[in-house]
Amino acid sequence: MIDNQHISNSMTIKLEDIFEDLPPMPQFAAGIRRAPSRHFTLSLKDTQLALKNALRYVPERWHQQLAPEFLEELLTRGRIYGYRFRPEGHIKGRPIDEYCGRCIEGRAFQVMIDNNLDFDVALYPYELVTYGETGQVCQNWMQYRLIRKYLETLSREQTLVMESGHPLGLFKSSPRAPRAIVTNGLMVGCFDDQQNWNRAAALGVSNYGQMTAGGWMYIGPQGIVHGTYSTILNAGRDKLGIPADQDLTGRLLVTSGLGGMSGAQGKAIEIANGVGIIAEVDYSRIQTRLEQGWIGQAIDDPAEAFKVAVQYQQQKKSAAIAFYGNVVDLLEYAANNKVKIDLLSDQTSCHAVYEGGYCPQGISFKERTELLQSGHAGFKEMVDATLRRHYELIQTLTERGTYFFDYGNSFLKAVYDAGVNEICKNGTNPIDGFIFQSYVEDIMGPILFDYGYGPFRWVCLSGKEEDLKKTDRAAMKCIDPQRRFQDRDNYVWIRDAEKNKLVVGTKARILYQDAMGRMNIALKFNEMVRNGKIGPVMLGRDHHDTGGTDSPFRETANIKDGSNITADMAIQCYAGNAARGMSLVALHNGGGVGIGNAINGGFGLVLDGSQRVDAVIRRAIPWDVMGGVARRAWARNQNSIDTSIQYNRMRKGSDHITIPYIADDKMIEKLVTEKFRDKE
Ligand SMILES: NC(=O)c1ccc[n+]([C@@H]2O[C@H](COP(=O)([O-])OP(=O)(O)OC[C@H]3O[C@@H](n4cnc5c(N)ncnc54)[C@H](O)[C@@H]3O)[C@@H](O)[C@H]2O)c1
Repeated sequence: MIDNQHISNSMTIKLEDIFEDLPPMPQFAAGIRRAPSRHFTLSLKDTQLALKNALRYVPERWHQQLAPEFLEELLTRGRIYGYRFRPEGHIKGRPIDEYCGRCIEGRAFQVMIDNNLDFDVALYPYELVTYGETGQVCQNWMQYRLIRKYLETLSREQTLVMESGHPLGLFKSSPRAPRAIVTNGLMVGCFDDQQNWNRAAALGVSNYGQMTAGGWMYIGPQGIVHGTYSTILNAGRDKLGIPADQDLTGRLLVTSGLGGMSGAQGKAIEIANGVGIIAEVDYSRIQTRLEQGWIGQAIDDPAEAFKVAVQYQQQKKSAAIAFYGNVVDLLEYAANNKVKIDLLSDQTSCHAVYEGGYCPQGISFKERTELLQSGHAGFKEMVDATLRRHYELIQTLTERGTYFFDYGNSFLKAVYDAGVNEICKNGTNPIDGFIFQSYVEDIMGPILFDYGYGPFRWVCLSGKEEDLKKTDRAAMKCIDPQRRFQDRDNYVWIRDAEKNKLVVGTKARILYQDAMGRMNIALKFNEMVRNGKIGPVMLGRDHHDTGGTDSPFRETANIKDGSNITADMAIQCYAGNAARGMSLVALHNGGGVGIGNAINGGFGLVLDGSQRVDAVIRRAIPWDVMGGVARRAWARNQNSIDTSIQYNRMRKGSDHITIPYIADDKMIEKLVTEKFRDKE
């Protein structure tokens, strides 16, 4: 058997080159949120396996000391995080020039990773969770250290292989290949469920990457403000009859969650000029949003919260009010007192409903955390009872005229899992969808994704405020506000972005754009980098986009040709982006809706001003978007068919999309009904 000395000698990238001695245990800063225990359930044999797995990262001379420490972490926190290897203090995405590396991409990825772990950005920074309760950059701090080392070593001729947070190694590729290929949480079909994944994560062999946490493209809650703004604005126009050139003035949105992503809701309602009450059980999250100015005030009495909201509505002023308490208590009050709510949603972390994502009614946030810590006794039943009550209240309110939509957090699925079959369209299972719509199904899907509008984003890697201002202005010039109402909304968004103070963490911006819009902006930015007007830029997008995600309860909820249960699109998108030379490509299981419920992918592209990158922009960005539009067109989505027809005309001789012939519904119905009748 090969001994550990031999193994150590055969590697040049390893933890012992970073640390001569075992680093001291870092202090945990007071007031920084900590992840709840992930509920230890491993068998004796699996516990041994988990320890051996974690010790693979560290040299043998530290095993005696680390083994009991790792065991303690596993028993108390349900995971081995290797806290000892975390750098002391506040990690931040610093200007790119402060990072070491042999290629710009290697240094850019380090900025992105550190931003995902910033105390101001990350949900549970010590546990490497960026957002969405469980979405991690990687599994543990040993991996973090090694990834950093690999990225410092990475050259233009190599690709870093990342498997669920584990840096598998550097392999020779070419300057035209991605510098990092990332996968997270992928499971083999028959094991692709929460239970098997929980075991894999506890063993230290799988990471929940959410979307941009494990894909290193998270840009703080701003990333979702634009999407939330577009969703609620268009929900108002589509469901409340507000004209396309008007906003939510005088209208009330009630929702919940002021966490990583959900924290965007207050800001979005304000930008849309409406009034929002957002329930949140964890006061520390309210505090963060108050300090940021993304909510105006916090109220812990439902009657008072609605009274204040009505005053703002009557004055036609915008306001974001946090209700400190359980969303179900807030809705109980609204239902009992016949409060008029225009739009209703929810953004608790229902994709991880029993892991702490959804707080049961009747207990405080602190009690919920203690229950999770002490092993869940009765916790699941409490969650299920609250979900069922939540559903009843939504029914009461919608019967009175409120429009409810699922905001991509798997709420409807969670209610179904809590035993409410009647929430399914077919009364039995979710195969035909739910009786309430997911926001993608009738708002974001047809109005945005089907045209290719999606969450394009960029980070100014210099860390300079002036670079962000210059990119904002340049992007604005690329938009024609007269073309469609979506373009007008995007134009207004970017025009006011600076004024709306959206940045948390690195100097980043989100802007919904379609394929050609994204390509033109990217080319403009790369030209600005080339001319020395700005420093390098990292481009990317949320995985939650036109073509990046197959998720039948969310991104592909408006795919109605039966292919909503397939994942070919997301995988093609990822492979196609790799083939076309994006700097980073990522493919994940789960995302915002939980293991087994979605496959999602994204990319990062470092703009270094070169002609090479111009060529990547021209071939990869239209593909990234139009692959999704083409699939949506093939599913007979009208706006995608129109967009594809235009695209075929515009890109004649270069790209070509297969467009469906449309069969006559009545002819098909008559034929099949008669045939079935004959058979009977
Ligand atoms: N629609 C989208 O585009 C989109 C994007 C990303 C994430 N999501 C989904 O939205 C959900 C929220 O994401 P996040 O990053 O904000 O997660 P998060 O866990 O950071 O925040 C959720 C918040 O809900 C609060 N909460 C839980 N139960 C509550 C209750 N009963 N009453 C009041 N507050 C309660 C929690 O305290 C927490 O602060 C996730 O499921 C995520 O996957 C949606």
